[in-house]
Amino acid sequence: MKYFFTGGIVVILIFVSLIIYQDRRTSISSLPYDDEQNGLEDQIIIHFSHVVAENTPKGLAATKFAELVHEKTNGKVIIRVYPNGILYNDYNEFEALKNNDIQMIAPTFSKVTSYLPSWQVLDLPFIIESEDELKQVLSGPLQDQLLAQLGKQDIKGLKFWSNGFKQIASNDYPILEVEDFQNLPIRVMNSELLKEQFARLGATPIATSFGEVYNEIENKKIKAQDNTISNLYSKGFHTYEKHITLSNHGIMGYAVMMNESFWNGLDKDIQQQIVEALNEMSDWQFEQSILLNEKSLNELRTIDAVSIYTLTDEQKKAWKEKLSSIYSNSNRIIDDSYYKLLMEQLKISNGTK
Ligand code: LMR
Repeated sequence: MKYFFTGGIVVILIFVSLIIYQDRRTSISSLPYDDEQNGLEDQIIIHFSHVVAENTPKGLAATKFAELVHEKTNGKVIIRVYPNGILYNDYNEFEALKNNDIQMIAPTFSKVTSYLPSWQVLDLPFIIESEDELKQVLSGPLQDQLLAQLGKQDIKGLKFWSNGFKQIASNDYPILEVEDFQNLPIRVMNSELLKEQFARLGATPIATSFGEVYNEIENKKIKAQDNTISNLYSKGFHTYEKHITLSNHGIMGYAVMMNESFWNGLDKDIQQQIVEALNEMSDWQFEQSILLNEKSLNELRTIDAVSIYTLTDEQKKAWKEKLSSIYSNSNRIIDDSYYKLLMEQLKISNGTK
């Protein structure tokens, strides 16, 4: 009886395996030929990670760049964009790029400064004062020279993108007079010069990664931050930081970069198509940055709980006076040739405006 029972189970198992085998054979052989799969083995995938939302100047630019490259290379190069820090954050994206775990990132200039201190030239306050000046600086020789420096880090620097001007958002009261900064825990990006600026104004600067800012506001570890309107609005920081001072005290922009060995491994025509895509979208990128920051500001103006302030000339003068010695001291950390180049591009002769 026992042998009969075991034998029966063995027969059933063989029978079921035969059915599964037959079924797999039929489904594989009946797969239609998919001509879109043709050449898949030749496709080049570029993983592009960044930390902000998709509806920001950088988010939009990354998507547009992916589309352009796809078009120009007839689908041979696919750029996969990962926004919102879903893959890497400010602190680990650089290493991930160098390890070729991802092939592209576009950090703010301020975040490159821990690797290349001279990039702090773009963190100097109140030097670039209009969108025209910003475009001129970010698309001129200073861009080329700073991007070339990335070679020391085995990184291929490709292009600068803009996110316009930074403002101050605060929780408890508006920041207008220099005295309002006194002991204010303010979040800044990780740049010595940014920390020094806010320390000079009397605040307590705290450098954190973008992905941690919301928690730090909630936990009251920080009570203010300097950021662009599009970054403030797209992340909903204004739900806590309801006072926004339009100060335009500094600029924010991005360095689009690629892992250098990966870049060197691309065919020359693909490299050229990537460069062409970035050049072609450059004017569009500057326009989008202005438009998105304006649009986000208009949205913020419709929110009753949010108050927007503009610095008066007197208030701005007082901030500038407090910061004035930062320019002459900056040669401690910024190679003078970059500072001079910035001054030349802005046609500033005596180092101040
Ligand atoms: C920030 O950390 O505030 C910004 O750098 C985020 C970004 O990439 O725009």
